[in-house]
Amino acid sequence: MAKTLDDLEKSRQIRTDVINKYGFVPTSVLEPDYSWGKSIIEYDKRKQQAVAKTKHEKMDYGDKADWGKSKEGPSKNELEKVFGMSSQNVRGKSGGLSTFPPGLARFIVDYYSEKGEIVLDPCAGHNSRMQVTSELGRNYIGYDVSKEFMEFNREVKDIITGKGGQSLMFTPKETITLREQTSEKMVENDSSIDMIYTSPPYWDIEYYGEEPEQLGFGKTYDEFLSGIQKILDECHRVLKPERYCIFNINDFRKNGVYYPYHADIIDLMLTAKFKLHDIVIVKWKSAIGACLVGDSEILTIDGIKPIQDIRISDKIISHNGAICNVTRTFNRTTNKLFVMKIAKQRNELKITGEHPILAIQRQHLICKKDKHQPCNGYYDKTVCKRCNQPVETNPKWIKVDRLKVGDYVALQTRKDTKDIKFINIWDFIDHEKFKLQNNAYIVVKNAKPNSTKIHKRLYLNGDFLRLVGYYLAEGGIYINKTNDYAESLSFTFNKKETNYVADVQHLVKMIFGVRTTVYTPKKYNISTVKIHSRIMAEFFRSFAGVGFDKKFINKLLFLLPTKKQLDLLRGAFRGDGYANKQCISIGMSNKRLIQEIRNILLRFGYVFNYDYYVPKLSNKTTYRLSSASSVCSSLVWEIFGIKGIKKQDKSYIVYKDNIMLVRINKIHIIKQPHMVYNIEVKNDNSYIAESVICHNCFASQVEERKVTAKIHEYLIVGRKV
Ligand SMILES: C[S@@+](CC[C@H](N)C(=O)[O-])C[C@H]1O[C@@H](n2cnc3c(N)ncnc32)[C@H](O)[C@@H]1O
Repeated sequence: MAKTLDDLEKSRQIRTDVINKYGFVPTSVLEPDYSWGKSIIEYDKRKQQAVAKTKHEKMDYGDKADWGKSKEGPSKNELEKVFGMSSQNVRGKSGGLSTFPPGLARFIVDYYSEKGEIVLDPCAGHNSRMQVTSELGRNYIGYDVSKEFMEFNREVKDIITGKGGQSLMFTPKETITLREQTSEKMVENDSSIDMIYTSPPYWDIEYYGEEPEQLGFGKTYDEFLSGIQKILDECHRVLKPERYCIFNINDFRKNGVYYPYHADIIDLMLTAKFKLHDIVIVKWKSAIGACLVGDSEILTIDGIKPIQDIRISDKIISHNGAICNVTRTFNRTTNKLFVMKIAKQRNELKITGEHPILAIQRQHLICKKDKHQPCNGYYDKTVCKRCNQPVETNPKWIKVDRLKVGDYVALQTRKDTKDIKFINIWDFIDHEKFKLQNNAYIVVKNAKPNSTKIHKRLYLNGDFLRLVGYYLAEGGIYINKTNDYAESLSFTFNKKETNYVADVQHLVKMIFGVRTTVYTPKKYNISTVKIHSRIMAEFFRSFAGVGFDKKFINKLLFLLPTKKQLDLLRGAFRGDGYANKQCISIGMSNKRLIQEIRNILLRFGYVFNYDYYVPKLSNKTTYRLSSASSVCSSLVWEIFGIKGIKKQDKSYIVYKDNIMLVRINKIHIIKQPHMVYNIEVKNDNSYIAESVICHNCFASQVEERKVTAKIHEYLIVGRKV
């Protein structure tokens, strides 16, 4: 606390100056500006991938044997891949080698050095530090023993300095010096450097190459640390007094042993005679590679929700069909998106390349008997039609950038059943407006003594579900705007659909005991069933929504046995659908409703085409589900009573009851900045986006105990005194 007013004034002024200069007051937890650094030249993608591949082959992930023990979870192999990827996300960008966020580098250089000074990086790697340091008007000296990385650094240097015919990125007044040698022995004079910062090697957890001077490769941890000690001794020698040496590091775990690398670095710094000046935790904004565009539709227990609206503790459906809590949400910008057009799906999946989804590559769709390549449409219930043998179609987690046209992605819905025999209407209506009579009947408050009463117990049987189906398609509620009372309910059909009109009348009478009237205006081609019951109107308003675009399938109905759900489909398809021997379809202006119907159809094992269009003479989009009648002839018979349809094979693969494999028809890449989102899902690490099963990228919840990755890093700051 400030002792005097003057002190207070001074401290306020310092605070203001710091904010003006750096944008914020540094705290012990730092979240770098990840959006900064668009002009940074990245390590060549192909080389990066090649090095990353070698790295992941050689990398020691530790206790692999324990992975995938859970019956439900992904297999060991899948997890290795997923973790390989998650390690890239935690320790680095696309290629799987650690990268230093340019925004963090900029802050460190700005904070601990001045323009024109000399900044030295003892383990330069392939990184943004050289470019950032140079852009900020400091002289840069970088040491590294990796031929590969130094070659890249020389190329970047040429671009920065305008050599080799490359255009200048900015005008560097200061020098860049690259030294391809070990920093255990530096050539600089004593006390000649103004600042040191680096990201040191991670023992043998990361693979940088096999040069003999590589500190970590093939060494014990102690041998590795003594190499780092030599580097730190040299750092201390070359650094000017009262200046700073900053190491950016992460702890790690190998073979079940936790290595507090940051604490070891502190020890080594102290041994090198630095004073410990600061420990800053660097918070990684996106340990999970945030992956999907904001309007991607996620399957939750409450229906479909855009990923950008998902919040922590929302309940989503995982790849196992389980209900899982969302434990974290993420977003970031990306410059590259994969756009996948999946058969049967109008919506494209817009997703980042490193994100794994449950899929199967075409070459793996192999018939067990003669190992022949598959043909589209050859499968039904995973049996090869050619040899009548089971086909191996186990989907796996595959990164999107490895998928090609012709591969299959897995669509999923919940297949578990939760039957509910009855509900209580009283739970769905406003108690201010109604009252209970004999604890059994609901009546309108202040109504005449002989006015309609409805039994509070409502059976969730097929009849009720059919009525709900009719309501979703053709129902309307009249709401009195002055008192917000739902006054009456109506169902409007085509004049010719007399059997549906009669069915609704019959259902209302049977279920609610309420009278109906039918209104058939001469001028129009319609018949309307009218029900003047405030209780029914209020109940439907709360149970299934009001308005063509606001109705929904109540979540209580999602898991009912399919036998009951068939009646829901019956009502909805009869109202808004159509079928003949060729095709069955349903169209609505309510996107959510159509998605929910699609999910119910998936429970029956049918993948309907999902499409939308704006009809002529209308400005409202119509969302439509359709299918060839030949692949769902029993459904067409059950709903519309159409017989004699010739059965045909499905063009998708029914892998398990709740997983369908659907072909990828097109993939293209868009290179524009996009905001992307991701969610972390407890236990199963997966969620369903646009019906496609996506991994949440980072296996932290299941595997954090075993794997090396952490979602924060440390800046260890030493001061030479
Ligand atoms: C974690 S990486 C740092 C670079 C990383 N790409 C980044 O963006 O921060 C560690 C680097 O230390 C280098 N290295 C290993 N042994 C070294 C030594 N004896 N002298 C100098 N550099 C060394 C490795 O080649 C590797 O590039």
